[in-house]
Formats: sequence, C-alpha cells, structure tokens
Amino acid sequence: MADTDGTMDERAVTRAGNPGNPHGQFGEQMLERMNRSHADVTNWALDQLEFKAGDRALDIGCGGGATMGRIASRIQAAGGMGHVSGVDISEVSCETSRRNNEGAIRAGQMDVTQASVESLPFPDGAFDVVTTVESFYFWPDPQRSLAEVARVTRPGGHFLLVADVYRRPDLAPEVLQNIERYDLTVLAPDKYERLLRKAGFSAAKAHLKDGTTWIAVEGTR
Ligand SMILES: C[S@@+](CC[C@H](N)C(=O)[O-])C[C@H]1O[C@@H](n2cnc3c(N)ncnc32)[C@H](O)[C@@H]1O
Repeated sequence: MADTDGTMDERAVTRAGNPGNPHGQFGEQMLERMNRSHADVTNWALDQLEFKAGDRALDIGCGGGATMGRIASRIQAAGGMGHVSGVDISEVSCETSRRNNEGAIRAGQMDVTQASVESLPFPDGAFDVVTTVESFYFWPDPQRSLAEVARVTRPGGHFLLVADVYRRPDLAPEVLQNIERYDLTVLAPDKYERLLRKAGFSAAKAHLKDGTTWIAVEGTR
C-alpha cells in the first residue's frame, strides 16, 4: 500500500478513504483530490442546465464541496442572490465542504447538513435545482432515494445525476472490477431515465459526452 518513501498512491488513498462514506485523514485527502479530478465532468454536466438568478440549489453527496462552489458561480453569473445547500452522509465530507465554502456559508449563501439522501431534511419543493455528482453509485435504495429527491424538487424544477461511468458493453476490466469492489449502481442510460420517471419526474433525458463514459441524467419535476 505505502510507497518506499512512506506515501500512498492515489488508488490506495481512495481505498483507505472510502469514497462511499469518506472518513479519517485519507478521506479528507481523497475529497480534496476529487474536488479537482471531478471538475471536468461536473462542468460539462452543469452546462446541460440553465441556472437563473435566485435559484435555490441542493447538491447531494457534496463531498469536498467544489460542486457547491461551481453551482454558486453559475447562479451568480445568471444574476445572483441564490442559495446552495449541500448534504452528505459523511461527517468528514460535511466538514471539508464547510471548510472549502467558509466565506459563502458565513455570508448566508450556503449551508451544509449531514444527512442521507433517503431522508432529506427539507420541505417538499424546496429546490429549483438538485444535483448529485459521483454519489448515486453508493445510494442504498436507488428507487426510494430518487423519490425523496423528487419530493424536494419544486414542480418544474430540475435534477441532474452525474456519473463518469454508465453501463455499456465496452467497459474496461479495471472499471468493472471497481464497480464490483464497491458494489456500485452503474446503469444503462435508458434504465436511469426509467428510474427517474418512476420516482416522480415528469421527464428524464440522459446526456452522454462523446469520447467518454460520462453521463448526466436530467429529470424535470
Ligand atoms: C465519490 S464521493 C463524490 C463527492 C463529490 N460529489 C465529488 O464529486 O467530488 C461520494 C460522496 O457521496 C456521499 N454519499 C454516499 N452515500 C450517500 C447517501 N446515502 N446520502 C448522502 N451522501 C452520500 C459520500 O459520503 C461521498 O462524500
């Protein structure tokens, strides 16, 4: 696991940090790395949505908090005065998100709450936009969790489920091993669309990025 100089390679840090529920020192390191390594897929996915001035947004499985900042910038560019909430099941993720968004939290423009997607601590229709990046893989009961996401999305609002891998026949053996190792939910595009519709979204559309295995599934409430 450790290199000869005592440091750990990235895969070892990820295993020790547990991407499904980050904890401890390796969890923190992994979250900071994911804040950088998920930038491209997240920015591409957020391009699929239209943000408006005053939008109330929620990021589920907010991890190290970078997506919250990216959403806030887009609301700002659309005219500002919105609010971004983050939830995560992991205490370390919540602490890291808070640390990385300290100024916006102090200014009352963001908040972070420790909670699981299965039971979101928000009223019905509380959000115009709900996102989740690289987190759906780990959700315990996908159908029930998505119904809870639909509950907090206002009618006409949007949900975006982002993943850097979806189920297709040509996945590399190491990707398949990872899916098995962490018992990840990785579905084909039409299966995501069906799940979202069944969960209460009136429309669902999977966006795929050419030349990659990225997917952004957009649900309209
Ligand atoms: C791979 S990390 C991705 C973090 C961040 N979204 C990013 O893109 O860098 C997955 C995150 O989802 C969170 N998570 C896993 N299961 C969850 C659940 N049931 N409810 C809320 N968050 C969950 C984990 O704690 C972790 O912070």
